[in-house]
Amino acid sequence: MTRIPQNIIDRVRDTAEIVEVISRDVDLKLRGANYFGLCPFHSEKTPSFSVAPAKRIYHCFGCGSGGNVFSYLMEHQKITFPEAVKVLADRYNIPIQLEEGSGSSELFSVLYDLHEKATELYQHNLFQDIGRKALVYLKSRGLTEDHIKQFKLGFSADSWDQLVQLISGIGITQGQAAKSGLFIQSEKGIFDRFRSRIMFPVFNSSGKVIAFGGRIFDTEDPAKYLNSPETPLYKKSEIFYGLQASRDAIRKEGYAVLVEGYMDFLQLYQSGIQPVLATSGTSFTTRHTRALNRFSRKVILLFDGDRAGGAATIRAGWTMLKNGIEPAIVRPPENKDPDDWIRESGVSEVKKALDAPLSFIDFHLDYFHGSNLEGTERKQYILEILREVHGIQDGIVQNDLIRILAQKLKVDESDLIRTMKTQHLAPSYPVETSNAEISEPIFFTTREDKAQIELLQLLIHKDIKVRKYVMDVVSEIEITHPLLKQLSEHLINTKLKVDTAAIIEYFSDKSERDSISKILFETKQDIPPEQIVADCLKILKSKPIKERIRELRMEIREKESEGHHPETELKEVIKLQQELNEL
Ligand code: UTP
Ligand code: MN
Repeated sequence: MTRIPQNIIDRVRDTAEIVEVISRDVDLKLRGANYFGLCPFHSEKTPSFSVAPAKRIYHCFGCGSGGNVFSYLMEHQKITFPEAVKVLADRYNIPIQLEEGSGSSELFSVLYDLHEKATELYQHNLFQDIGRKALVYLKSRGLTEDHIKQFKLGFSADSWDQLVQLISGIGITQGQAAKSGLFIQSEKGIFDRFRSRIMFPVFNSSGKVIAFGGRIFDTEDPAKYLNSPETPLYKKSEIFYGLQASRDAIRKEGYAVLVEGYMDFLQLYQSGIQPVLATSGTSFTTRHTRALNRFSRKVILLFDGDRAGGAATIRAGWTMLKNGIEPAIVRPPENKDPDDWIRESGVSEVKKALDAPLSFIDFHLDYFHGSNLEGTERKQYILEILREVHGIQDGIVQNDLIRILAQKLKVDESDLIRTMKTQHLAPSYPVETSNAEISEPIFFTTREDKAQIELLQLLIHKDIKVRKYVMDVVSEIEITHPLLKQLSEHLINTKLKVDTAAIIEYFSDKSERDSISKILFETKQDIPPEQIVADCLKILKSKPIKERIRELRMEIREKESEGHHPETELKEVIKLQQELNEL
């Protein structure tokens, strides 16, 4: 691995003409503001591959591939990111001065060393006066001092340069510091990225610190956690928080309990539930399944008991099934997370639940009320499940699921199989592509996802006034989809400075890049932003009300069938209907 300084990467990206680069492989024709051509990543007869010169990104409406000029070369020529940068630097005559000490092993040891020093500093702070509030906070959340020390939790001072001071004496180059993810750079120099936060070191499986998650605790901030960015040491979708401590227990027990948060992990581990893992600052991906496969093929998903946790459970469950891992589900009580649950109900109740998890299919049926649906809703539900089941490569797993579904939904197994094979259930791109690396697409299926996307698209609107106005709106709502959340945090962190082509590199996973490019690609011109904001907020606010009405309807039916009059339920429905109308 060679290190190319970030300013060179930026310069190459800004200089390279994406249309010119892609035109070498694709015959592009201008239509409106964008160019169109036959997609080089899948076979097609009519052009659905498009390049937006102004945004300097591309997107294929057929196969979903998308990205910037670097990802185009990486995927088209099957080369790495630094190779792509070099190809273009050569082509545009931009000299690449590699940073001194560019041997990768030296870089790695410098970065490990820096993380170790930072960990020590943060730990030290926590037990000083400046860290007292943070320590009190951690204890108030039930963590023991032993565990605080075992996991090397710390505190970053309310200072712009405590860490900068520490490194200035030890001969780390600017470039190395930039690669560590522990600093931010501006025209005025480099500053500490983490300030006044409780620090959770993230370890690799051999126990070295490779990144941090930092939590604010005494102020309100839409971004509760700030995490290290991807660095040479830290590949988010391959890393589990806590694995260094729980690996042996996972091997021994033969399963892992997967939770969403650092705090959930610590609370479970400390309570004696040791085969536990957390994803680290990102959502669960296919790459995680590869890392997991080495330890355990059984996972109990124990995500948060809110809507976002439910939706994430469904997504992670399918990802696991498609990659040879058997998911089972336990859910905390409504709106609690595993940490709250243990603290409020005691560990024995949680252990009991973990001993009897739901199968993924039972959870799915339950979550979507699959067995109670009727008519088109039922049909839609079955089709959606079949689409996922269709994507499972393992024939045995697929057959088992079909059999179980047939029983539970009272349909003929053969009907399900026929529907699965004949309906166009394949993802919305052609699968017969030859050379394309088809990544798992990230589907934004719900109306809420779509509303959130429209809001985020306004954050890159060409008018800064619109961006500012929407930023206030966005910081007031909860962005539930993890990828969208990452995007919104990025847009907000970069102070709405819009550089669509640079945003792409913030996402290291191809499927993430594809989804992000698609979002960045679309522009709505004719609808006034205020209208879009109003519509989206309406959707986002009406969802919980509608769900409650649906629950009530079922309760009403039940009561009526038992001969009771569901008076209170009816009243509540009327009230909620009014609320809906007023939105
Ligand atoms: P949670 O909000 O569930 O965090 O997010 P938590 O660990 O339970 O934290 P507490 O209980 O509020 O202290 C789950 C995980 O998602 C990531 C973090 O890894 C977090 O542990 N996350 C969350 C972020 O990366 N950024 C955020 O702003 C929020
Ligand atoms: Mn929590």
